[in-house]
Amino acid sequence: MTKHVSPEAQADLFRDDILAGLLKDRKVVSSKWLYDDVGSHLFEAITELDAYYPTRTEISILERNAKKYRRLPGARGAMVELGSGSSRKTDLLLDAFPDLSVYMPIDISANHLKAAAERVRRAYPSLAVIPVAADFTQPFGQLPLLPELPVLIFFPGSTIGNFEKSEAAALLSNIRSAMPEASLIIGVDRPKDAQVLQDAYDDPAGITAAFNQNLLQRINRELDGTFDLAAFAHKAVWNVSESRIEMHLESKAQQTVTIAGETVAFAKGETIHTENSHKYSEDAFEGIAHEGGWQITDVDSDENNWFSVYTLQAA
Ligand code: SAH
Ligand code: AVI
Repeated sequence: MTKHVSPEAQADLFRDDILAGLLKDRKVVSSKWLYDDVGSHLFEAITELDAYYPTRTEISILERNAKKYRRLPGARGAMVELGSGSSRKTDLLLDAFPDLSVYMPIDISANHLKAAAERVRRAYPSLAVIPVAADFTQPFGQLPLLPELPVLIFFPGSTIGNFEKSEAAALLSNIRSAMPEASLIIGVDRPKDAQVLQDAYDDPAGITAAFNQNLLQRINRELDGTFDLAAFAHKAVWNVSESRIEMHLESKAQQTVTIAGETVAFAKGETIHTENSHKYSEDAFEGIAHEGGWQITDVDSDENNWFSVYTLQAA
């Protein structure tokens, strides 16, 4: 599948990517680096928040429609999950797919993935569980472990929204080239009231702020960084024209920080852009899906039309 990267190579990639992003005029860090062990646990805590509507909304859609998805050929073959996290939503499909034989969760957060895969293995002993710790934005290789099986790809959480529109289309295109016969079930968050969005990404308990700030702690831990966490504030901004929530870390003062021996200067008010979370209308998502070579064959939404789960086939 995607290339497995050793922990040492991953550490080099982390250093190079962080330094390249922080030395740009507009400082930016890929949101994939939010997910170390601590970040993955903080994300799980976010999913429990009242303010964070996407998880419970997507779960309600999956609960209502899981049996319908059983009709897809891959439900009797292999399920590949992208950005599987705790694999909690997966249970809804695994319960509805008694004839599934292989489950391949792919996630960049290696320890979290391992623990989730062990839990699934214990809960579904007849299933072959094959976790792959990898970055799914890297080129997909062959599928040596799934030679003759129909494949269902599960990509929940609206993680597709964390990519720029062109990157999202490119990722969908890579997935299609690697698994052209597969069906894809993908969760996508929709535009909604700005205050609902703001509260979801800047919750009163400060868990999302801790999730964002953990990036600085991760840099301190892994790259010998000198970030003072109290000197950076979590900001969530609804960018209407791009239809996305942006997460930033804003420098409260003019300061310098050392990272892996390099000095990075911050002006007061300057931000590090740490995440985008695009919210797609049906038309907007259809455009991205088409660009990636897919056609929508089904769409299921909640009663408020806050979130949608699409079924796609190669166009
Ligand atoms: N699917 C779960 C988790 C969503 S959080 C849910 O719906 O609740 C996003 C997940 O994607 C995290 O587990 C994170 O580690 C993983 N992830 C983010 N970017 C990734 C990348 N480039 N490659 C592989 N996994 C990635
Ligand atoms: C994983 N991803 C879809 C989440 C989102 O909503 O964009 C990550 C997240 N960021 C802040 N809260 C949750």
